[in-house]
Amino acid sequence: MRRPKISLKKYFYFTLICALLLIFGFNLKEYEIWKSNREPRSLLSVTQQQQQQRQHEAINEMKGLIVWETTSTYESAPPASPVPASDQDQQLQELDAEEEGAAGDRRAQTAATAKPWFFRNGEYYPKPAKTFSNRKARKLHAPRLFPQEDQHGDRVVNQLMYVPHNYEQIKASGKLKTILLYNGLGPWNVKKGREVFLRSKCPVDTCELTANRDLASVADMILYKDTYIPTGIRRPNNHKQVNMMYYLECPYHTQNVKVPDAINWTATYRRDSTVMAPYEKWQYYDNKVQQQEQDHNYALNKTKKVAWFVSNCGARNGRLQYAHELQKHIEVDIYGGCGNYKCPRSTADRCFDILDNDYKFYLAFENSNCRDYITEKFFVNALNRKVLPIVMGARPEDYEVSAPRRSYIHVDEFASPKELAEYLHILDKDDELYNSYFKWKGTGEFINTYFWCRVCSTLHNEDQLRKSSWYHDVNDWWRGAGICTSGSWRNFKARMDVISDD
Ligand SMILES: *[C@@H]1O[C@H](CO)[C@@H](O)[C@H](O)[C@H]1NC(C)=O
Ligand SMILES: *[C@@H]1O[C@H](CO)[C@@H](O)[C@H](O)[C@H]1NC(C)=O
Repeated sequence: MRRPKISLKKYFYFTLICALLLIFGFNLKEYEIWKSNREPRSLLSVTQQQQQQRQHEAINEMKGLIVWETTSTYESAPPASPVPASDQDQQLQELDAEEEGAAGDRRAQTAATAKPWFFRNGEYYPKPAKTFSNRKARKLHAPRLFPQEDQHGDRVVNQLMYVPHNYEQIKASGKLKTILLYNGLGPWNVKKGREVFLRSKCPVDTCELTANRDLASVADMILYKDTYIPTGIRRPNNHKQVNMMYYLECPYHTQNVKVPDAINWTATYRRDSTVMAPYEKWQYYDNKVQQQEQDHNYALNKTKKVAWFVSNCGARNGRLQYAHELQKHIEVDIYGGCGNYKCPRSTADRCFDILDNDYKFYLAFENSNCRDYITEKFFVNALNRKVLPIVMGARPEDYEVSAPRRSYIHVDEFASPKELAEYLHILDKDDELYNSYFKWKGTGEFINTYFWCRVCSTLHNEDQLRKSSWYHDVNDWWRGAGICTSGSWRNFKARMDVISDD
């Protein structure tokens, strides 16, 4: 039997109304979630009592950990976004004022003037972490050393500033954490023993390096460099031993780990590694001062447009084709084996002088487009000079959090090489606009990230060791879908780009 027409129409309206109600309901729900997520950060939306409690805790934190707090702000607010002081910042400033009026903590004042130890001439060393009896406070003051505690930042500064609460006792006991370099000392270029920790003046230096594989069953950490080698023994019973894998190169140039559940922690240039090992790290002196006036005109006397020094012509991200396409619309001088300009390595210094004095732009193109893959090509060849880098390699959002604010141009900001060239012509004619890309200079430093200090300090975090964590399949994390792409990130389809090395 066929249904009469009229009921079909009613049925349609009924569905429509239901759908609208659903959408409305969902929005309400989302608003709720959003609200509850934000609440801990905002003092205005909580009750008076909770407010006092938080203020109390925050003041306690200010007393011991003022630099700590500034630095964790670096971590939570990506340097590249021109954010006004966040809620949290605001809150801390207010409390700061209150605190000074009340007590005028001496340590807080030292911290405000002395740079943290990892800067050049830095003098401020961290004190042991405080302990908190109540769970909420513990959570609030967690040192945030590990990826799951901070989804966005690299936690490098947190790790550099972490000292376990019982560090005095640890030192007095004479007990050291043993780190076994399973591929030997050679690949790391370090001496056995404590030398590297002492020489670096690590805040936590109670660790020792060894290459003695007989210690595999008792070492606190077994550290692999690029290749995993099974130890052939059962893992120790205490479950606290950490297997860490270090990769220097990007996934295209590293091997698979064939054994599942073998790796607990990772150390790579990826921001979400346990102990990030970046090629370079930019750090502002003060996260609120990311730009400053320069007394140098970076456009002065420059007569040439784009330069590129390159030796490896066949890169898988098509960077050479891109440069050739760009050449059709703006002058691009390619030095080295892939172009017509010669710059012998023996006169490298002179080449860099030419770059500084004559060229406005430099192509800092990586050889692979992989997440967070930004090498010294960008930091040393380009940012340390007086030329504006044009970058290709990691995703635009990766550069945004790693590079100084407004210090480069990403090719993906433009739909094509032609459009990029058009913008470069605009910059070429407008010195003020061109110079606006150099205002980050002097606001911070490329810091030494003291890899070994951070390995040692994180290995002292007993909470994490107790938790027990590992990668079921580390290859999945390292080279799975969405990590690298053979083309531009602009029209990137994650599922097409899983890398396998077999
Ligand atoms: C620019 O050229 C002038 C004249 O040749 C020279 O005196 C000056 O030092 C140059 N400036 C820079 C920044 O290279
Ligand atoms: C390391 O991983 C193993 C599993 O392969 C686990 O039993 C152990 O507890 C982990 N250790 C730490 C410190 O997370």
